[in-house]
Amino acid sequence: MIDRDALKKEIRALLKERDAIMLSHNYQRDEVQEMADLTGDSLALSQAAADSPAKVIVFCGVHFMAESAAILSPSKTVILPRMDAGCPMADMITPEDLRREKEKRPGVPVVAYVNTSAEVKSLSDICCTSANAVRVVDSLDSERVYMIPDRNLSHYVSLSSKKRMEWWNGFCPTHERLKREDVIRAKKENPEAVFVCHPECRPDVVELADHVCSTSGMYKYARASAAKTIIVGTEMGILYRLRKENPDKRFVLASRALICPNMKLTALEDVAQALKEMKNVVTVPDGVRVPAKRALDRMIKVPRDF
Ligand code: 13P
Ligand code: SF4
Repeated sequence: MIDRDALKKEIRALLKERDAIMLSHNYQRDEVQEMADLTGDSLALSQAAADSPAKVIVFCGVHFMAESAAILSPSKTVILPRMDAGCPMADMITPEDLRREKEKRPGVPVVAYVNTSAEVKSLSDICCTSANAVRVVDSLDSERVYMIPDRNLSHYVSLSSKKRMEWWNGFCPTHERLKREDVIRAKKENPEAVFVCHPECRPDVVELADHVCSTSGMYKYARASAAKTIIVGTEMGILYRLRKENPDKRFVLASRALICPNMKLTALEDVAQALKEMKNVVTVPDGVRVPAKRALDRMIKVPRDF
């Protein structure tokens, strides 16, 4: 049995020695979130990585997030403790797929959800996250918009945008597992509860939500809500901070299937090992990085919705 306190102490010392900060996505294991200097959604973490004076960024999340940090902060060393932590949704569209779709729609701007590879971003006009997607789409001059890769986020944006939208047929396998019946059952069992979900959920689930937002948006919503019970429609890692920050409220996960196996790969042992060996460094070649950064920078100028 590894002594957790000794391991945490070792990580703290390594972080100091390497001039590193540890960032954790809101879906990471509890002890990773607890140990991190900062937890947040994909947008907040990439910006924090760019703004931080630290030389090394240990990004506890999935590959596209570390890649975004590397794109925004080329002078820093970005480490992904588990190189096998990918995002199946990001893998659903390749650069070749996007080139083909662009040829079919000359002049139509491409909005790439950050859950895409660096190369796909480099072929896109602007990025978005779940925290700013509506504003990003509305900020464009064009009447038509092509959105990739998430059909559910795209559909959600199309509900409130006046743009003529088309999109790629990708999805998040974790959020897709949440079914309408699960939410109806949870509501029946908790009639006083409100339901909040991520826009990666299926449209017939989103339809049932009292509020739809990014992962960090959920912390804000939970704090402000008068409801004592909140049914949560996103990955279960979010519960750690929701419960910690709102001890007087009850949080019910809408389905036990809401676990992203990739987000759960990173353990503190991986963080320590990666820092010790300075291994799993994520880099992006300049030919891809520069146009990808343009798409991310354009997004950063657009305010977030929460
Ligand atoms: P957020 O940008 O809301 O953190 O979501 C990232 C993600 O991967 C959701 O599945
Ligand atoms: Fe990708 Fe879904 Fe996991 Fe987020 S929850 S990292 S979108 S697979």
